[in-house]
This record gives sequence, C-alpha cells and structure tokens, in this order.
Amino acid sequence: MSFHINAKPGEVAETVLLPGDPLRAKHIAETMLEQVTCYNHVRNMYGFTGYYQGKRVSIQGTGMGIPSIAIYASELISSFQARRLIRVGSCGAIQPELQLRDIILAMAASTDSSFNKVRFGGMDYAPTASFRLLKNAYDAAMRKGIAIKAGNILSSDNFYNANPEQWKLWAAYGVLAIEMESTALYTLAAQHQVEALSILTVSDSLVTGEEEPAAAREKAFTQMFAIALELAE
Ligand code: HPA
Repeated sequence: MSFHINAKPGEVAETVLLPGDPLRAKHIAETMLEQVTCYNHVRNMYGFTGYYQGKRVSIQGTGMGIPSIAIYASELISSFQARRLIRVGSCGAIQPELQLRDIILAMAASTDSSFNKVRFGGMDYAPTASFRLLKNAYDAAMRKGIAIKAGNILSSDNFYNANPEQWKLWAAYGVLAIEMESTALYTLAAQHQVEALSILTVSDSLVTGEEEPAAAREKAFTQMFAIALELAE
C-alpha cells in the first residue's frame, strides 16, 4: 500500500531514475526503454518500468522540491523495494567555470532547508551520494566521452530567493550549483541503507544570468540519461 504510487507489488524496478517532470519520465521511457509499462497515474506523477540493454529500470517523476521528492523516494524504497535511486535533474550554476549543459555528479548536497535539521534535532548531517554509484556514473561518462564535474551542490527551498545574492555565500565555499531535491534523497537513502546519486545538467547560470532554452536542453538531458541508465544492474 502506498499513498502516492498505485503500482502493484513487483512493478517497480530496483533501479529508479527520478526526473522532476513526469512528462520527461514519459519521454525517456518511450524513447530509451523497451517493453515499457506505466505503473502510476496518481496526480499525473507518471512512473514507468522497462528495459535498457536488457536491464530492468523504472523512471518515476518526483515533482519539484524537497517535500515532493521525499514522498516519492520514501514510497519507492519502503513500499516497492527500490534499491538504487538516481535523480536526473537540472540545476543553476554558481561557479564561473561552469557552462550551460555541463553535467554534474553531486558528491554531497548542502541545504538551506530544515529537512535534515528537524530530523537531527538541530545538528548538521552531511548527505552524500553513494560512492559506488558515483564511481559507476563517472566511469560510464568516461566510456561515453562525456565530460563531467563532481562536487558539492545546494538543495534550496527557494527558487526565487528573497536575497538574490545568497548564492554567493555557497559559491565562496566551492558549491557548484543549486537545485531543490538532492539533500532529501541522500538522507532518505542513508536512513534506509539504499544507494542514491544525483546527476544534474546546468540549465542556467546565476553567475552570468544565461538560461538554456527549453528546446536546446534535450541533447544535454539525453547525455545525462544515458549515464544514469548505465547504472541499472
Ligand atoms: N535554482 C534552483 N533550482 C534550479 C535552478 C536554480 O537556478 N535551475 C534549475 N533548477
């Protein structure tokens, strides 16, 4: 029984890719997987299972933000035995050397959210990626000739921050980019002793103000998904 995912037992694969946008989940499932079935329609937050090069994999939309991804990650792990959760999303770069369409492997996810602080009674927890998935993703990217960056990112509760300069504090500590989900994914994976990794594509830069037009994102996103799908086992 699961509140937001009405799949039947066994319909979700052990490896689950997690885009924020459920229509992106649909697009990837339809273009990159074989023998695809849709297991979830609740709230239009589609989830699909299929095969990539003979390996079973699911793709589940998560919505945007920490509370939303926390719901889907919790249910995938606790009710459907997901064991490898790989976020595939976009991010805003906060370092000058990052270019639009660069791909980042998030080693760790700092946050301005209270998600971890509440859980740890005000103390700090450092949510980190699975080293095994990170290494496998790095190796897959190298095999495909795709350059990647790896480092700390910020999972923010604010897409529109009241202080437009706030990102500079994180940038001064070497944080690469801002997104809105990974810290919760990493913490929940640790709690349940499963593996998680976030792979992110730079869609905009807070340093330069540049934005990738939606249509042009497709190619970079395809590369990110190609890396993520290699993590199916
Ligand atoms: N901020 C937060 N999340 C994001 C951004 C951003 O600039 N770009 C893509 N996701």
